[in-house]
Amino acid sequence: MARRRQLYEGKAKVIFEGPEPGTLVCYFKDDATAFNNQKKGTITGKGVLNNRISEFLMLRLQDLGIPTHFLRRLNMREQLVREVEIIPVEVIVRNVAAGSMAKRLGIPEGTPLPRSIVEYCYKSDELGDPLISEEHITAFGWASPQDIDDFLAMSLRVNDFLSGIFLGIGIKLVDFKLEFGRIYDENGDVRIVLADELSPDNMRLWDVNTGEKMDKDRFRRDMGNVEEAYREVARRLGVLPEGANVEAIDGESN
Ligand code: CDP
Repeated sequence: MARRRQLYEGKAKVIFEGPEPGTLVCYFKDDATAFNNQKKGTITGKGVLNNRISEFLMLRLQDLGIPTHFLRRLNMREQLVREVEIIPVEVIVRNVAAGSMAKRLGIPEGTPLPRSIVEYCYKSDELGDPLISEEHITAFGWASPQDIDDFLAMSLRVNDFLSGIFLGIGIKLVDFKLEFGRIYDENGDVRIVLADELSPDNMRLWDVNTGEKMDKDRFRRDMGNVEEAYREVARRLGVLPEGANVEAIDGESN
């Protein structure tokens, strides 16, 4: 990786300077963390699978007219993205009660919600991504009311669209997390685009027929067969790298 400058190393990705100004290269690692970094491990082949899954979903959303930071996949573990100014707000969209919301409100996990519910968290590892409201977002200047309108509308469209894609392959989209960023064009105009990744690392995906979990909860809850679950999601989406022994694959090949 000596050929380009590393800008940042996160929990699941490494970010390098891109080949042109305003671009970045995201390298998808096999590392997994949960419970705000208290649990650490690796899921063999995860980076390869998430790179593909995220590419596929970002492209489908772009087809729909949703602006994203994704430019193109470079190889098995890397993709080229637009550099954005990340808005420090995680947007969580929920269709079924699970995880922290089920716990917080005492709703049994698996209860369908009367309608999709959107929650916001402040993006801060030190604080454990605390739940916030629109009031916090605007009062602290993390985003304007117009920004919130924009990313809320986009999040609901993403939910409808992804729910349909997954239902078509026998998977229920229980909940997911989105991140957005700003892009400034030459005229100084600002655009909000979908950033980060769309993968089983930041979604809950349950098999429609068996209820089997096909996402990072398998890692969080020590359920085993984590890699197999990610691979099955990729297979059903039709993006499993051909003949791939994803365990053996590193960054450079296609
Ligand atoms: O996952 P956990 O129970 O900690 O939190 P949650 O609020 O129930 O998570 C809702 C959804 O957002 C799940 O699909 C998580 O995987 C995802 N999420 C994420 O990707 N990153 C976070 N920092 C928090 C949640």
